[in-house]
Amino acid sequence: MKLSASQLLLAGASLTAALPHLDSPRQRLLNGMDLPTKYGENSKPYTPGHRDAEDNYVDAIGKKLDPKPWRNGFGASVLGPYNRDRSRQSPDMIRPPSTDHGNIANMRWSFTDSHVRIEEGGWTRQTTVRELPTSVELAGVNMRLDKGVIRELHWHKEAEWAYVLDGEVRVTALDYEGGNFIDDLKKGDLWYFPSGVPHSLQGLGENGTEFLIIFDDGNFSEESTFILSDWLAHTPKSVIAENFHLAPELFDHLPTGEKYIFQGSVPGSIDDEAPKGKNVKKSNYQFTHKMLDQEPKKTKGGEVRITDSKNFPISKTVAAAHAVIEPGAIREMHWHPNADEWSFFISGRARVTIFASEGTARTFDYVAGDVGIVPRNMGHFVQNIGDEPVEMLEIFRADEFRDFSLFQWMGETPQRLVLDHLFADDKEAGEKFWEQVKDAKKDEITK
Ligand SMILES: *[C@@H]1O[C@H](CO)[C@@H](O)[C@H](O)[C@H]1NC(C)=O
Ligand SMILES: *[C@@H]1O[C@H](CO)[C@@H](O)[C@H](O)[C@H]1NC(C)=O
Repeated sequence: MKLSASQLLLAGASLTAALPHLDSPRQRLLNGMDLPTKYGENSKPYTPGHRDAEDNYVDAIGKKLDPKPWRNGFGASVLGPYNRDRSRQSPDMIRPPSTDHGNIANMRWSFTDSHVRIEEGGWTRQTTVRELPTSVELAGVNMRLDKGVIRELHWHKEAEWAYVLDGEVRVTALDYEGGNFIDDLKKGDLWYFPSGVPHSLQGLGENGTEFLIIFDDGNFSEESTFILSDWLAHTPKSVIAENFHLAPELFDHLPTGEKYIFQGSVPGSIDDEAPKGKNVKKSNYQFTHKMLDQEPKKTKGGEVRITDSKNFPISKTVAAAHAVIEPGAIREMHWHPNADEWSFFISGRARVTIFASEGTARTFDYVAGDVGIVPRNMGHFVQNIGDEPVEMLEIFRADEFRDFSLFQWMGETPQRLVLDHLFADDKEAGEKFWEQVKDAKKDEITK
């Protein structure tokens, strides 16, 4: 077939269009050329000219940068809708490190995205398997009770562990032997109520309290607890009367449904309030613990406190670490063999890359109020990417806190074996690496 001149021209034009754009940022970088200023300076991290073989972090919030998907000459701008605040919170979602690969489920949830149930003098919101499908082992509830406000007497089938985020709170419980427990807690204190143990919470002090509760089942719902007023509202009055050996009329004004969270009267001291009847006895169990008062393990880049059944014996199903990671420091590369990690970020900005085997890895960024999940055995680190300390809780459905340190593993392995694995092609670098790891010093938060 013979082509006309214009047909030939058209064919030539589409051929050119199909060829790689020879002046693209990617091609220029590959050719070792500098980028023209229209691509932005290399120092600006979200421009076409961004070049970073080491995948350094960028604090998009602190530096007020708008993350864009440009990496080592690849990428393009965003033409469609752009959510600046969310983009700044997750810069490694928009431009993942070049080492990320494969499909890994979502591991981040912000409590800001949880529905808030507003009640008299307080509120509550939850992060469960329904909000975050990877939150399988544990569920979290964030609750606020103002001064005198009560979370009603109740129980549930899940065990309950909690960390006081601020303010003061009074807890009461009944133990298996019928002993009563009352304690007042402040910021950094914990409580743990095993499955079925009835309890209550009440805000004290000027502003009451706010806390994070953990339940040892991701499917837990704060809406489905066994509540005192709800039970009595659904029991025949004649039975209640018989049970308490009183006339039914006495119960005419019982609440007609659950009270859940409500304004109560401000209590006096524990001594004043403690029950004093003939058969009343104090509990021999210790349902509370002062986590932040524990002497921390000081590390090069921060400090760690670990609370599990070794130092808080009642807490048989929940173990936790409280970590402070200074700016420029990193919670070292490690994994947990016995449970999924449910992390809660109290302050700061962090990035975490989760290595899920089979060449897959995904990076997530976290800010205050975020929940993170790391499934058991998956390798990870927590890097402080901001200018303030990262304060976080690592929580596990386990009786003991356990982790394996990559650094320590290397130093506890024969040198030859390590170097054959990692430095077969660079003996000199291998010697330097070995000098660094040979003392096998575990430094949970390192710098
Ligand atoms: C209570 O809250 C007010 C207002 O936020 C604050 O000024 C005050 O310092 C708080 N009091 C305590 C004891 O934390
Ligand atoms: C959670 O509970 C619902 C309703 O009881 C059930 O259908 C679902 O299978 C449960 N999911 C998990 C992960 O246990």
